[in-house]
Amino acid sequence: MYVGSAPVCSPSPCNCVPDQLMARALSRDHRYHVTSTSSSITSFFYIYICLIETTVHNIKGCDELGAPTFLLSFTVQRYLWTRRRTLGVTKMHLAVAIFASALVLTLALDNGLMRTPPMGWLAWERYRCDIDCERDPKNCISENLFKDMADRLSEDGWRELGYVYVNIDDCWSSMERDKQGRLQADPKRFPGGIANLARYMHDRGLKLGIYGDMGTHTCGGYPGTNLDQIETDAQTFADWGVDMLKLDGCYSNESVQAEGYPRMSKALNATGRRIAYSCSWPAYQGGLPPKVNYTQLGEICNLWRNYGDIQDSWDSVLSISDWFFKNQDIVGPAAGPGKWNDPDMLIIGNFGLSTDQSRSQMALWAIMAAPLFMSNDLRTISSGARAILQNKAIIRISQDPMGVQGKRLLKDKCGIDVYWRPLSDNGSALVFFSRRNDMPYRYQISLSKLNYTTGLYKMYEVFMGKVGTVEDTSEFTVSVNPSGVVMLYVFPPVKHRQFHGNAKLHGPAHFHHHDLDNAIPPGFL
Ligand code: GLA
Repeated sequence: MYVGSAPVCSPSPCNCVPDQLMARALSRDHRYHVTSTSSSITSFFYIYICLIETTVHNIKGCDELGAPTFLLSFTVQRYLWTRRRTLGVTKMHLAVAIFASALVLTLALDNGLMRTPPMGWLAWERYRCDIDCERDPKNCISENLFKDMADRLSEDGWRELGYVYVNIDDCWSSMERDKQGRLQADPKRFPGGIANLARYMHDRGLKLGIYGDMGTHTCGGYPGTNLDQIETDAQTFADWGVDMLKLDGCYSNESVQAEGYPRMSKALNATGRRIAYSCSWPAYQGGLPPKVNYTQLGEICNLWRNYGDIQDSWDSVLSISDWFFKNQDIVGPAAGPGKWNDPDMLIIGNFGLSTDQSRSQMALWAIMAAPLFMSNDLRTISSGARAILQNKAIIRISQDPMGVQGKRLLKDKCGIDVYWRPLSDNGSALVFFSRRNDMPYRYQISLSKLNYTTGLYKMYEVFMGKVGTVEDTSEFTVSVNPSGVVMLYVFPPVKHRQFHGNAKLHGPAHFHHHDLDNAIPPGFL
């Protein structure tokens, strides 16, 4: 196990054998079994929730699940119908089933949103509480900033890749509530009001997020949401057509948070508008049990901040990612479709990260199944940063429908970490990350050392766009830059005959170049 700061490995090529493979983490059959069982139960209930939502609240339901949901819904209805006929299941039984689903409905925030990690843009890290629109009109927190970002998202190819949320953070509101006690936007900086801004987003196929605080004030000192204002604020956001709420936790205490966060979840549901709910609650309670109850969070929030704020530096990215992987066995299982751990924004495109570090943030966030909210300037972003954020293969990994959060498999003593995330169709992603600070490191490994045991695999290197095949027992070498990554999309045992005479991969040189667009080649999957 690599501990401390000085890697004690001999010069490359690295022959370090991983000392501690987390074999349990890799017991994929078990994981798949659990996942598929629980997800079919979830799907079953979700179908009911959709049906109930659609009829009772007249909500255009289930759109995020699309056609498969309706197919599944049809199948379940048929199944129930058949069971009713063959087993003589009475109306009473059906009523019990519906009652049980309704019970789940009231216990869980199953609003059908965010079945894969949400993607979009969030103001805070880059724009903070800049309210000086006279001297800094381009960067101040104002409706123009959000409209500018919406224009870029919809015109520069971001929206099609899934980046659809445009999220306001702190410092948007007026210092006073209105006469009816409702929050209101700062009239100078948001002259059109939030409802208009939401319409602007919706007209472009985007969604609007807003920020509040479960406490007397927001962290920036603006009006917060006290316990007796929860329902009013939820209704105000719904009336404005808001699609997501980030509820911060400054200026409150443990008991206010314990009462307030679940109540806001209920209040949002009660509005009948589907509003995704991001809870900062765990971050204010240290991020770990027993103070944090991840089961409850999964029932009431779509995502939650577990840890401190990201800043525009590599140190910050690394310390956040280290916290999440150190605690992966606690926080990882909490994540899944509709409920995500949030290690905070992507800072790619700003000032603090090199190209390699930007790739590392993108790769590690995808492994973590983390929300991908960029906080950067999309009007001036470099083509290099854009290419990383728009990498189709990584986005595909991030958005894998199984929604299992990945883990660190090993921290090698030579300063290379290996991360892994299981993906649907028996695929997986591997990330080799270098903590070294000397030179590109030639790391030698075989898939079987990482517990891949079923023969021949296809691999796609996501940043270079190269494909290759490798036998599980064959050693291969990846060259990892200091604070950089090599990320592989690995595909399962393929029929040997297909690759006869072309089987061994000994290093990146044996990958052949496929596609500059970084989309996974069509024949690959
Ligand atoms: C807290 C949050 C940040 C941001 C600021 C706004 O620090 O964690 O993400 O919302 O408040 O003041």
